[in-house]
Amino acid sequence: MQTKHPIGILGTTGMVGQRFIQLLENHPWFEIAWLAASDRSSGKTYGEASKWRLDTPLPERIARMIVSPADPDRAPKIVFAALDAAIARELEPLFANAGCAVVSNSSAFRMAPNVPLVIPEVNAEHLHLIEEQPSRKESGGYMVTNPNCSAIGLVLALKPIEERFGLEQILVTTMQAVSGAGYPGVPSMDILGNVVPYIGNEEEKLEAETLKLLGRLEGHSVVPLPARVSAHCNRVAVEDGHTESVSIKLGNKLGRPATREDLLAAWAEFRPLAGQDLPMAPEQPIEWAPQNDRPQPRLDRNRGKGMAVTVGRLRPCNVLDWKFTVLSHNTIRGAAGAAILNAELLASLGKLEPVTEAAARA
Ligand SMILES: NC(=O)c1ccc[n+]([C@@H]2O[C@H](COP(=O)([O-])OP(=O)(O)OC[C@H]3O[C@@H](n4cnc5c(N)ncnc54)[C@H](OP(=O)(O)O)[C@@H]3O)[C@@H](O)[C@H]2O)c1
Repeated sequence: MQTKHPIGILGTTGMVGQRFIQLLENHPWFEIAWLAASDRSSGKTYGEASKWRLDTPLPERIARMIVSPADPDRAPKIVFAALDAAIARELEPLFANAGCAVVSNSSAFRMAPNVPLVIPEVNAEHLHLIEEQPSRKESGGYMVTNPNCSAIGLVLALKPIEERFGLEQILVTTMQAVSGAGYPGVPSMDILGNVVPYIGNEEEKLEAETLKLLGRLEGHSVVPLPARVSAHCNRVAVEDGHTESVSIKLGNKLGRPATREDLLAAWAEFRPLAGQDLPMAPEQPIEWAPQNDRPQPRLDRNRGKGMAVTVGRLRPCNVLDWKFTVLSHNTIRGAAGAAILNAELLASLGKLEPVTEAAARA
């Protein structure tokens, strides 16, 4: 790709918006050209409007950019969105109708039948659903979503298992980081030295999204995986990185019971994007941690630059068949990094407008 695609970020001052800025700085295909947030921020420089929370410096060029109102008129044709679901529900269709490719993190349209919910390593073929969106025909614009931050880690770990052995039942208990609640998020008095066994709508999202992601594209819609999922979601006093304890009952695709070696091989050999050269894609999407006490958020969340999920503690389950632990970085693999990888896949499929010299000058 010779000329970079100009991109915009909606909800640029939040936790996920900041990750977009961090991950897109020096991206070989995309260049940040437009930043937008609420009326509280628009008109200010990004440096004034945002409370930068990341451990790399805020790039100076970005600090000087003026935050725009969330209005599609001046937005570039590719927009990464990191808005609250209620606001996304209202704003994202406006951008899609105005001809933008909206690559969204929010839950607002993830379960809509004509909106792809995609993890490139898992269900790239679901991207065909963008052709079912009326805006695609009218203006060229469309919406693509990435999953809930706890669904991404779980589904990446389950995909190679489902492919080789089948899956009938999934039990998952999450321990989710505070950054998953945005900034300032959960009050410190509620979370320090504590566990909160409730995250609004999270269990429902995790259950439904898992089955859509592992489902089959048939004609104009996705048929969810016919498995049963039960999720328990907890907020814990961890800054970044969602940990999940998972038990599974396998199907019978193999024709014999799967062994521990079968499962480990399925994870190790899972490299569906190999050779596609997508800059954000980790070489090894699922990394195995052999130690008894891993994965741990502080030690493992940045594997594969935050884009790999780490699995460990694989052992027989006395109730279902197997149990294990999976960890993923919630604002990188679980949010901004996931959206950037989706946009890279769209670019590689020719679904983002080509950037011509004339367009770049306009
Ligand atoms: N954090 C995670 O780990 C994670 C993971 C996956 C998905 N998500 C999803 O990603 C989205 C963003 O999450 P977050 O954690 O980044 O939230 P956040 O920290 O609360 O940030 C929200 C952003 O939306 C902007 N905003 C609020 N009202 C707006 C309006 N009326 N018009 C335009 N912009 C508006 C805010 O701008 P101001 O600063 O101007 O108010 C801010 O930039 C949510 O849907 C969330 O569920 C988050």
